[in-house]
Amino acid sequence: MEIPRLHPDTVEAVKQRVDIVDVISEHVVLRKRGKDHTGLCPFHEDKSPSFSVSPSKQLYYCFGCGAGGNGIKFLMEIGKRSFTDVVLDLAKRYQVTVQTLEPAQRQELQRQLSLREQLYEVLALSSKFYEHALRQPDGQKALSYLLEQRQLDEATIQQFQLGYAPSGWQVLYGYLVEQKRFPVELVEQAGLIVPRQEGKGYYDRFRDRLIIPIHDLQGRVIGFGGRALGDEQPKYLNSPETELFDKGKTLFGLDQARAAIAKQDRAVVVEGYFDVIALHAAGITNVVASLGTALNAAQVRMLLRYSESKQVVLNFDADAAGNKAAERAIGEVAELAYQGEVQLRVLNLPAGKDPDEYLKMHTAQDYRDLLFDAPLWLDWQIQQILAITDLSQADQFQQGSQEVAKLLGKLPNATLRTHYIHRCAELLSDGNPRMALQLEADLRTQVRGQRWHGRSQKWQRPGDRSLLEESEVQLLRLYLHVPEYRMLIKSSLEERDLDFNLSHHRLLWQLTLEVEAAEPAEAKQDLLSLLQDRCLEAEGFGFVQGLMQLDEKTQRDLLRAPLVVRTAIASMERVMCEKRRRHFLDLWKQTDCSASPDLAQYYQQQIYAETQRIEAIDQEQRQVTFEDLAQIPWVGEFRDALGISQ
Ligand code: UTP
Ligand code: MN
Repeated sequence: MEIPRLHPDTVEAVKQRVDIVDVISEHVVLRKRGKDHTGLCPFHEDKSPSFSVSPSKQLYYCFGCGAGGNGIKFLMEIGKRSFTDVVLDLAKRYQVTVQTLEPAQRQELQRQLSLREQLYEVLALSSKFYEHALRQPDGQKALSYLLEQRQLDEATIQQFQLGYAPSGWQVLYGYLVEQKRFPVELVEQAGLIVPRQEGKGYYDRFRDRLIIPIHDLQGRVIGFGGRALGDEQPKYLNSPETELFDKGKTLFGLDQARAAIAKQDRAVVVEGYFDVIALHAAGITNVVASLGTALNAAQVRMLLRYSESKQVVLNFDADAAGNKAAERAIGEVAELAYQGEVQLRVLNLPAGKDPDEYLKMHTAQDYRDLLFDAPLWLDWQIQQILAITDLSQADQFQQGSQEVAKLLGKLPNATLRTHYIHRCAELLSDGNPRMALQLEADLRTQVRGQRWHGRSQKWQRPGDRSLLEESEVQLLRLYLHVPEYRMLIKSSLEERDLDFNLSHHRLLWQLTLEVEAAEPAEAKQDLLSLLQDRCLEAEGFGFVQGLMQLDEKTQRDLLRAPLVVRTAIASMERVMCEKRRRHFLDLWKQTDCSASPDLAQYYQQQIYAETQRIEAIDQEQRQVTFEDLAQIPWVGEFRDALGISQ
């Protein structure tokens, strides 16, 4: 259960009372040196005392590893504890009265907590109801579907608590609302009944369907999947998202699979409910499924908690849809995979079968062997690209090698990159050693082109730096001062694959993201002071003071934030495109077009693409809309004065 959040006054009072020397000297031997205290840093292997504590500023800082902050931060880091936890402890120690949120807010919190409890109860009872119905005469056809068509045994049916939803319109409704007296709104919020379109009343969501309960990690029912017994559509009907059921954060079967995932140090993700059930029944129990949605990074992170060596195998259906699902999932977790934070593999079963179908013809050991041989995701992606490429066709060959270069360009590890470049050159050259050598050289250059991060000053023109400085400062200032625009700024940068060019801006941006990740709630409320704490002592952050203050001009900027964001982003992207264009132009000039025609063509295409993008940006910038103008205060006043109504 969540602890109610502390009242900001309590946090403030604790901050006032804490003495940092007092707090830290319980963990570090400190020696007074001038007005500060120094000692060995507890956050890294420190040989000479690089850790310094300032009683006047109430801050600590390590010159060795850069750790720094106030007393609360120190206790959070040293004990790996939450903000609330540390503040509560300190409150006790310094006898600060603890005030939680306002009574009304607390009540609201209480209400939400008890709503959740009640939802769990309704769902658990419904699950029992469905299980019972499977054993009634009405459920006979569902039971024989499971036993005969699905070839499941009794133990598996019970283990997954499979059930049957009777075919009437108000069977569950009658049971829960009329018999058990649950409030109808509650049953609706649990996703079990649906209000009628016309007239009053409700009907059961699941009718005449096989019921598969979905559990959370603690094994509590949070939703249901309902499979049609015949060819009715949809094949699967699922619970809607509710207070308890978030599809993107749930994996079907994880409650039952997690011990096996930990033991075998590897997780398998499949597409369907019945794939999980069939694999578990066959004794392969480290298996989960996503719930009809693309597997996302949060779900992969959930799995990584249980596998020490971080191994995840995607086993999606080997048809076009399954491959697409695998590509989508890879796209979602590519960042993790490129950084080596997950060892992702992809298993395609032969002949387009899903695991459930595969097991009807093969043994569990056959499946295990395939799992063992599953290629790493990058090899799989290369295979995918080459499989659809006819290497004897010049244009396809060209396209294929470009896509491969794009993949490899993102690999941060140089040794791996070299290894893959070599392998791909071999694959692409189809056994011709001379061609392989040439291709390897070409690929290496292409990959280098892909890896170009664009920060190099070499391609910058004289005016660029001040333009970037101005734009980046505007974005950072808005980000710090106006929480409402943080999402917009972040997504605009991401969408256009932009990063801050000036290194001190980039450092501040990284720091900001770190602070937000570490203390999301606090950062939302008071990012400025959190950052101030972190920046005060660090070197090179002097300019931050300038960002924290607002003068008349910068105040005006805040008022027309969307326009400022748009213009700043456009300027940054434009400079980037120009730099990239110059960079590729230079590469192209150095290329021997007759020896490496593909490469030459590749550079030409890049140059063309950058030119197009620059034109598009300029076009966008010319289209300043009425809305944008209306955001500028004096335009609004002017309009009002003239009585123009848009
Ligand atoms: P599939 O269509 O591959 O079904 O959907 P399956 O698991 O092989 O089903 P069987 O073996 O014919 O019973 C894979 C998953 O996609 C979701 C479900 O989670 C299903 O298990 N899905 C599919 C839906 O949510 N709704 C649908 O209509 C179909
Ligand atoms: Mn299936």
